[in-house]
Amino acid sequence: MLNGKHIILGITGGIAAYKSALLVRLLIKRGAEVQVVMTPSAKEFITPVTLSALTGKPVVSEFFTANTGEWHSHVDLGLWADAMVIAPATACTIGKMANGVADNMLVTTYLSAKAPVFVAPAMDLDMMAHPSTTRNLELLRSYGNHVIEPASGELASHLVGRGRMEEPENIVRVLDDYFASSSRLAGKKVLITAGPTYERIDPVRFIGNFSTGKMGYALADAAARAGAEVTVVSGPVSVRPKESSVKVIPVESACQMADRCMEIFPQTDIAIMCAAVADYAPAEQLDKKLKRGNCETMTLELRRNPDIAAMLGKNKRDGQILVGFALETDNEEFNACRKMESKNLDLIVLNSLAVPGAGFATDTNAVSVFFADGRRTDIPLMSKADVAGKIISLL
Ligand code: PMT
Repeated sequence: MLNGKHIILGITGGIAAYKSALLVRLLIKRGAEVQVVMTPSAKEFITPVTLSALTGKPVVSEFFTANTGEWHSHVDLGLWADAMVIAPATACTIGKMANGVADNMLVTTYLSAKAPVFVAPAMDLDMMAHPSTTRNLELLRSYGNHVIEPASGELASHLVGRGRMEEPENIVRVLDDYFASSSRLAGKKVLITAGPTYERIDPVRFIGNFSTGKMGYALADAAARAGAEVTVVSGPVSVRPKESSVKVIPVESACQMADRCMEIFPQTDIAIMCAAVADYAPAEQLDKKLKRGNCETMTLELRRNPDIAAMLGKNKRDGQILVGFALETDNEEFNACRKMESKNLDLIVLNSLAVPGAGFATDTNAVSVFFADGRRTDIPLMSKADVAGKIISLL
């Protein structure tokens, strides 16, 4: 997968920089073209001569070449790259990347890079465990960067703990997997529903639910990264897709969502129904604000909303894949499988409100995927982005 790929390898000043030479060799052996960008302090740990000999390209470290005054364009480098890997990434550089402190060539290149960015932290265990490092890595993840988690073992300080840069072979494997998955859905059209629906009672009130759209948008980003053309039909949410190619069609109610989905479904290869659609809406929408009366109770008449997944299931043609979600609180597996059958789904993703960290609004989820042919895959608690990647890879 790496053959012909342009990789920027950013090296920062940590003892693990000695592993960069091996990383370069492995990338080049797989046919990648590698451009090394080093921070000034990285040169204390490995010489630019070694790296330029291995890559066949001068190493870039300063904004200008001292004797000729030649300017190194971080913008051109950022556009050239198919991927940027920062390995090792020190706590200092991670902090600068997280906060846009562009005081060296590596961080300016990072800020200009359009390609996916992979960060392999390497530092002492206490630095790794510090809340500042945790927060900065979380920020990088929120920008869509991939953090290649450090391993545990003996560190440069001779202490034993988490903070060893992942081995070069594993970093190459992560890149290989990324490029393999980024062409998996090439040419496919994917429709995703996300978020809640709001069913208006009057001009100021609605019936809704706690869905934030995080899971649906994570699926949209993962599908786009796998090469698909993605449309999200989205209820009212504040999240946005990270991938600029994702098209969002905003709607408010279940009926509006149903109409948009029915229009798009015929041109769709894969539809994923992740929205938490209100099953019922007020039978009547009032033009004026409903006044508080003297009665202790009030009754609101509701009418059934269309079941969008079931409608698509009825219209599904050969070759289309229809995926549902099930949010359950009890009898989970039975209810999920019954929904899969009754809505003519090809697979259903079960998440349970009984599992802490799963379901509405959290940044994490834990799911079980049931296939119509009886297979089952469990995905333990992890970020919604990672759950989405795994679901997309199952498709
Ligand atoms: O948005 P987040 O905060 O990240 O939360 C994510 C989530 C918990 C909302 C998501 O992971 C999830 O479980 N979505 C489906 C929730 C749900 O409505 O489940 P359900 O069991 O009620 O519905 C089953 C399936 O039918 C779903 O695919 C649903 O989209 C679909 N459906 C339901 C009712 C309806 N009228 N039309 C539908 O299409």
